[in-house]
Amino acid sequence: MRLSRYFLPVLKETPSEAQIVSHRLMLRAGMIRQQAAGIYSWLPLGFKVLRRIEQIVHEEQQRAGHIPLLMPTLQPADLWRESGRYEAYGEEMLRIKDRHKRDLLYGPTNEEMITDIFRSHVSSYKDLPLTLYHIQWKFRDEIRPRFGVMRGREFLMKDGYNFDLTYEDAMHAYNRHLVSYLRSYERMGLQAIPMRAESGPIGGDDTHEFLVLAETGESEVFYDSEITDLRFGDRAIDYDDVAQCRAVLEEFTSRYARTDDTHDAAAFEAQVPEERRRSARGIEVGQIFYFGTKYSEPMGATVVNDKGERVPVHMGSHGIGVSRLLGAIIEASHDENGIIWPEGVTPFHAGIVNLKQGDGAADAACESLYSALKAKGLDPLYDDREERAGAKFATMDLIGLPWRITVGPRGLKNGVVELTSRRTGESEELSADAAVDRLAQIYAPHL
Ligand SMILES: Nc1ncnc2c1ncn2[C@@H]1O[C@H](COP(=O)(O)OP(=O)(O)OP(=O)(O)O)[C@@H](O)[C@H]1O
Ligand SMILES: [Mg+2]
Repeated sequence: MRLSRYFLPVLKETPSEAQIVSHRLMLRAGMIRQQAAGIYSWLPLGFKVLRRIEQIVHEEQQRAGHIPLLMPTLQPADLWRESGRYEAYGEEMLRIKDRHKRDLLYGPTNEEMITDIFRSHVSSYKDLPLTLYHIQWKFRDEIRPRFGVMRGREFLMKDGYNFDLTYEDAMHAYNRHLVSYLRSYERMGLQAIPMRAESGPIGGDDTHEFLVLAETGESEVFYDSEITDLRFGDRAIDYDDVAQCRAVLEEFTSRYARTDDTHDAAAFEAQVPEERRRSARGIEVGQIFYFGTKYSEPMGATVVNDKGERVPVHMGSHGIGVSRLLGAIIEASHDENGIIWPEGVTPFHAGIVNLKQGDGAADAACESLYSALKAKGLDPLYDDREERAGAKFATMDLIGLPWRITVGPRGLKNGVVELTSRRTGESEELSADAAVDRLAQIYAPHL
């Protein structure tokens, strides 16, 4: 993309309505525009990051054997009357009437609808295990939408649902989700810690929330500091291997880590030596639940087992806050000049800054860099505007591309361009070819 042809409405002023840094930076970098309280348009730069996050979630879900589909945003109220949640959900549910006065709602989550799909099409234990998921917009009429996309009313969520014959099979699905979530967040450059949590209106017994530590987080958390040393990394995992998935769950959840809802001060003191006890704030970026037959029983989602008996299936649901993740990533990765995108989610892989637009040699070098990066499968943003170098650098810093290549007539005389890391600020002079090769290498794990 050439910046002169792009739509990047950056703001000079710091917007006064934004209380936290991620919201401020998303507005300043021209990523989102608020259309009503907690409802946003995703401008091109924000939309690109949203799509990259979605892509990672899709890849990791499918690697775990989970199957994508797409359910609608609007749902008939009758489905929710079957589970008893139409009345129970309260004011957060946006209720709508169509022209025939039929009750609809904008889905805050999809347990009922997926259970309906399951009961209509599956009747034998031989079709299990099954995990279906989608990435779809949700609406919750939050009392206090705030912090930009972190607590919106309309927000994008990945929600997945497992259907299993037994408790043991359902717990394997739970563990698979935990592993796939650890991988997903790490690919986004985030550390998200699974913590024991309360289940809320979804219901159920076993549940973990994934929290990104950040001062601006809305949850209070208590944990053993050893937990922050754990990394899933690029180890191989066989998602069909029950023991292997179970071992990952144990590794990541055996140390004390709880949100304030389930925190138990006496257990914390008994289990964790004082010097390792931490209390902090965190952003919830996902949650996994096992809830057994809570929906399958009232809604008649049953299968015939190998003894010919009809039994309700064991279920769980598993969410990732796709749009909230943009805010969480920025909270975890920024400096006073702007955003610092992790390589896994950056909207463009590198910025090209032409120090002297209109200079024949500089223009030609930028054009050839631009094509060479694209030929390697990379997605560069070329700042080809007639602007001062300082202004170009400030824009690149604000929008947070991890790498910048600076091209100017003086360097070109010596056959070099400059490659700068947004994170460390360190620059290196090298030939244009070498810069392209370096970037291709850096991004190889992310393409
Ligand atoms: N209002 C919201 N805006 C943006 N993302 C949200 C919002 N509510 C929930 N999410 C995201 O969707 C994920 C799955 O939804 P879940 O039902 O677990 O939310 P929740 O526990 O009600 O969230 P919270 O406690 O923050 O209100 C959450 O982990 C979170 O990342
Ligand atoms: Mg939750």
